Amino acid sequence: MKTIRVRLGTRSYDILIASGLLKELGRLLSNYGNFTKILIVTDKDVEKLYGPIVAETLAPYKPKVIALESASGGEGQKNLATVESLYHHLLGHGMDRRGLIVALGGGVVGDVAGYAAATFMRGVPYVQVPTTLVAQVDSSIGGKTAVNLPEGKNLVGCFYQPRAVFIDPDTLRTLPAGEVTEGMAEVIKYGVIRDPSLFRFLEEHLTGVLRLEPWHTERVITSCCKIKAWVVSKDEREETGLRSILNYGHTFGHALEALGGYKGYRHGQAVAMGMLLATRIAIKMGLAGDDLLGRQRDLLLRVGAPVDCKAEEVKQAFELLYRDKKVVGGRLRFVLPLRIGKVVLKEVSSELLTQEVL
Ligand code: NAD
Ligand code: GLY
Repeated sequence: MKTIRVRLGTRSYDILIASGLLKELGRLLSNYGNFTKILIVTDKDVEKLYGPIVAETLAPYKPKVIALESASGGEGQKNLATVESLYHHLLGHGMDRRGLIVALGGGVVGDVAGYAAATFMRGVPYVQVPTTLVAQVDSSIGGKTAVNLPEGKNLVGCFYQPRAVFIDPDTLRTLPAGEVTEGMAEVIKYGVIRDPSLFRFLEEHLTGVLRLEPWHTERVITSCCKIKAWVVSKDEREETGLRSILNYGHTFGHALEALGGYKGYRHGQAVAMGMLLATRIAIKMGLAGDDLLGRQRDLLLRVGAPVDCKAEEVKQAFELLYRDKKVVGGRLRFVLPLRIGKVVLKEVSSELLTQEVL
């Protein structure tokens, strides 16, 4: 079992990573508090797959299970109506601050359950038990909780850290292939922003990683979680700019997603193209060499992510970005790579972006 500590003073917590961990969840939880009640929030697909294992290990707590409709790549139930329905279930189950919410599933479940935990009775404890690659390397760690409004994604939320994160990489074996690609874009991102050895490992062992061989998956997830834990420990609330390095590829990626009304490119696909665009900008600005583009492009192609974006889409995405809140005095801020393992946050002029399109 690997244990990584997210160091946040009194709100510090562990990320536990082990193959087969799910069956041990009940025993492991007892190290994190004497919880009187447990409410499990999950979705219907995850419940079918993992509900029985979790029900068995948590049986002594007589947990109540709430299963949301599954999102299948969409945002599904990530809204305030779901949060309100969770409050009613929590009340119905007699939950108070001595109880625990267990978020079992992907990022949608984690974000909604985390927000309900943050706000119910001004905050009840929760743990994350992520079952997608995106959730295991990203969304379950760092305490960003949120729901969507009709006007946009993640517009209502708060920072609220879990008591612990329990990761069982074996759960990834039932993921549809597209969900693995979604997560792999984020995994590659971690290599570029902070970890050359992770990037090299992916280049050399991608077949094993994509086959979800236990040793490979554990190695990759552990590296990503270490980076996320370090970044969150240093800049929990995105105040110093450090946490924004996690948004490498996301500025342009979000614009591409928004252009398609969130029905075109999926998040990981858009981030993949956003990383390559940020690299092209870095090269144009003389900050990086050409090889940086090739290595990322090759790896992204191998995981099945799209790498070529139409010029018209890029142009429209830039236009959208200039209307976006990220614009400071007519200049956009991008996370730009200098080399594998090192990125910087830099303002980029609209002229340079236009040259990039041409
Ligand atoms: P998701 O939660 O929608 O899950 C994707 C699909 O996989 C769902 O249909 C789900 O039922 C299914 N699934 C989950 N685990 C499975 C398993 N083990 N086997 C088979 N099927 C399984 O998608 P996601 O990519 O995990 O999360 C995306 C969400 O996370 C977005 O809402 C995004 O905004 C959010 N997010 C949050 C943060 C954060 O820091 N809080 C970071 C990144 C993403
Ligand atoms: N997923 C980006 C962050 O947690 O800050």
